[in-house]
Amino acid sequence: MPFPVERPRRLRATPALRSLVREQRLDPAQLVLPMFVKEGLDVPREVTSLPGVVQHSRASLVDAAHEAVEAGVGGLMLFGVPAERDARGSGADDPDGILNLGLRDLADAVGDRTVVMADLCLDEFTDHGHCGVLVEDGPRAGTVDNDATLARYVATGLAQAEAGAGVLGLSGMMDGQVGVVRAALDEAGRDDVVLLAYAAKYASAFYGPFREAVESTLVGDRRAYQQDPANRREALREVRLDVEEGADVVMVKPALPYLDVLSDVAAAVDVPVWAYQVSGELAMVEAAAANGWLDRERTILETLASVQRAGADAVLTYWAVEAARWLRRG
Ligand code: PBG
Repeated sequence: MPFPVERPRRLRATPALRSLVREQRLDPAQLVLPMFVKEGLDVPREVTSLPGVVQHSRASLVDAAHEAVEAGVGGLMLFGVPAERDARGSGADDPDGILNLGLRDLADAVGDRTVVMADLCLDEFTDHGHCGVLVEDGPRAGTVDNDATLARYVATGLAQAEAGAGVLGLSGMMDGQVGVVRAALDEAGRDDVVLLAYAAKYASAFYGPFREAVESTLVGDRRAYQQDPANRREALREVRLDVEEGADVVMVKPALPYLDVLSDVAAAVDVPVWAYQVSGELAMVEAAAANGWLDRERTILETLASVQRAGADAVLTYWAVEAARWLRRG
């Protein structure tokens, strides 16, 4: 027998062969675009640490949503940047709060052609920047009050569903959050609203630029509710609980630094698994590309392919529109 017996290179010889044996393909419909709408803004404003991402005015949000739908992206995830914040995050469940107004605008403009999603959390609306309300007195003063926060999530979820969100993205990492919101929606006759659980969400340094995008000044950190980056098995516990509580979709976040977790989760559940390619993942690639150290388009497409390969059925990415155009071009 001549050596080598097996020659894997044989299948890599031409573009046609490589295309024929490619194991996966990303479709623009599997990309979800996160968007920011800021109260009181007349023209969109760039986010310095997130090149290419803007805070939208209500008008520019709708224009950008049309553009994203034209490009073929599968959904839009909206975050609100309010003009004022308070301790309980009142703007989150106010029907006239900026996020709910933006959701209404999106639902009216593109709701029949795409999936409109809302971030269901309090951190954009609280003056202390935490994802929930804080305990006021006693030995636990200053910590996030899990069960009091659940009541705020219920009110917020109902307001977002009323505003026209078809998917609610529970990103706060409170225990029991999926179950209470599911029960309240069902009670209100809204068993049609989909719950996306940020089931495995890590206390990550990669969220840095997002804080600029939502102008959040966090006091302290989120380690008492988001997961420790060192923990892999714990993600399966979080995912199991969320599915038991009624999550329709589970998400892993961030994406690229957590591909092992994504792979574990995809193997463990029978609901769709999504991944969130977060702000720091974008910033890292954009900074390197701006220096000429990485080929921007190839790197971005490779990160998306990797996240898909690890098990994501869909990806939330700030590059959604651009990537959708590249993918369509082929
Ligand atoms: C919480 C939320 C955050 C992100 C999405 N939802 C911030 C956090 O948990 O600290 C970060 C997303 C990103 O970095 O792109 N509402």
